[in-house]
Amino acid sequence: MIQTTDHGQARAVWHELLVYAADHLPALLLVEAVRNFGAVVWVPGVGYLVNDPELGKAILEDSEGFTKTGPGSMGSMITQVVGENALMNMEGPAHQAMTARLHDLFSAAYLDVVSGQVLAEPAARLRRELIEGRDVDLVSFMHRLSGKMICHMLGLTIDAGDETYERLWSIGSSLTAPVGLTTTRLDDADVASRRAHFDELMDHARVSFERNDPGSDSIIQRLHDLGLSFDEVKGVTAALLTVGTQTVSATVPRAVALLVDTGQLALLRARPELRASAIDEALRYVVPAPIMLRSVEKTRVLGGHELKAGRRVLILAYNLMKHPGWFPKPRRFDITRRHHRKVKYLWFGAGSHFCLGFNLAYREIGSVLEVLETLPAEVRVVSRGYARNVLIPTYSRLVVRLGPVAKQKHADDGDPAQLGEQHGAREIDLGAEAHGRKRQVGDGRGAS
Ligand code: HEM
Repeated sequence: MIQTTDHGQARAVWHELLVYAADHLPALLLVEAVRNFGAVVWVPGVGYLVNDPELGKAILEDSEGFTKTGPGSMGSMITQVVGENALMNMEGPAHQAMTARLHDLFSAAYLDVVSGQVLAEPAARLRRELIEGRDVDLVSFMHRLSGKMICHMLGLTIDAGDETYERLWSIGSSLTAPVGLTTTRLDDADVASRRAHFDELMDHARVSFERNDPGSDSIIQRLHDLGLSFDEVKGVTAALLTVGTQTVSATVPRAVALLVDTGQLALLRARPELRASAIDEALRYVVPAPIMLRSVEKTRVLGGHELKAGRRVLILAYNLMKHPGWFPKPRRFDITRRHHRKVKYLWFGAGSHFCLGFNLAYREIGSVLEVLETLPAEVRVVSRGYARNVLIPTYSRLVVRLGPVAKQKHADDGDPAQLGEQHGAREIDLGAEAHGRKRQVGDGRGAS
C-alpha cells in the first residue's frame, strides 16, 4: 500500500515555510501571527486582515462594498503602469461588460490548441531528458514553458527558442516585481521601469493586432476578433501575461516538491485519475495568490466586525486555506482530500474577479503532472533553492532526476518516450472537467 509518512509531511511543511521565509519573512510572520486573533484583525498602517474563508468569500462577492480600484489599492498601482482596462483595475458595469466578452476566451477548443502548439513539446522534452537520466531544473523548465505561452498569446513565432522564452518570462517577472505590504502607490522610477518592460511586450502585441491574421490562434487575434480596441487589448493582455504566467510557473515546482516530499507522487502514479484532485490540493496548499487586496467602498458589518469605508482589506488566502474548520489538519498535503464546495476554488478568488484563466492553469499544471505520472519511475528532488525578490514565493531551483526503474516495468517499455500514450494517461479529460467548473463558477459570477 502507498503511504504518506509523517516524516514526509513534516519535510513538506518545512520546505514550504522556507519558500516563504526566503523572501517574505516579515509578511509570513505577520500572517502566521494573526491567524489566531479572529476572523478579522485590524492592523494600523496595513488594514483589516481577514482569516476566515466564508467572510473572505463574502467580501470578494460584494463588489459594491469592496473594490479593487479604491485609493491605495492594487488596481490603482496597476493603472499607474498599464493604464485602464486591465480587468484587475476595473469595477462595475465596465468590468462586467468586459468579462462577459471574454467569457469564452479559454474555451475547451482553445485549450486543445494550447496543448498541441505550446505544451506538448516541452512535456515530451521533459520526459525525454529525465528518461535519459539527466537532471532537470523544473524552475527553468517552467520559465521556458511560460515564455512559450507568452509567445503564443502574443502571436510571435512559436518556435522562437529557449532564449526568447526565458527573456519573455523575465519581462513578465520584472513587470510584476513585488511591492511591500504597506505600499499604496508606486514611485515614478518604479512606474517608468515597469512601463518600459510593458511597452516591450506591447510592441509585439501591436504588430499581431495590426497584422490581423484570422488564421492565427493567438490571444491578440482572439481579442481582435471579439471587437476589442487596441487599448482594450493592451489592458487585458497585461493581466494575462503577468498574473497568468507568474502564478503557474511559481506553482508547478512547489506542487512537484510537495508530491515528492510527502511520498504522494507514488499514489498519483498508481491512481492517475486523482490528477485533478492533486492539482486542487496543490493549489490549496501553495495558494499562489496568498493575499487579495480590496478597499472598503461602503462601510459593512460582516460576522460582527465593522469594516469602515476608505480602509484597506487584505484577504489572507494563505490563512483561509489553512482554516482547520474547513480543511482539517490543514498542513497535511493530501491529494485525496475532498474540499467543501463552499470553499473549493477560493484559491482562484470569487465573485466578479474570479480568475479568468483557471481552466488554462489546470491544463498547464496537468501537462507536467502527466509526465511525472507516466515515467518509468518516480522522480526525486536532487537539489533546491528558494527564490528572492519574487511576487509569488517559490523555488529558485528545483532539480529532479528519475529514480531507479523497477525491473518489470522496464521490460514492458517499448519506447519509454511514448509512455504517456501507452499507459492510457491521456484518457483523463482534465479540460472537460475544468470546463464544467467554469460553467459552475460562471453561473455565480456577478451574482453577488
Ligand atoms: C495557479 C494558477 C492561478 C491562480 C491560483 C490564480 C489565481 C487568481 C486569483 C486569486 C484571482 C483573483 C484576484 C482577486 O480577486 O483579487 C485571479 C484573477 C485573474 N486571473 Fe488568475 N490565477 C491563476 C492562473 C491564471 C492564468 C493561467 C491566467 C490567464 C492566462 C489567469 C488570469 C487571470 C485574470 C485575467 C484575472 C483577473 C480577473 C478579473 O479581475 O476580472 N490566471 N487569478
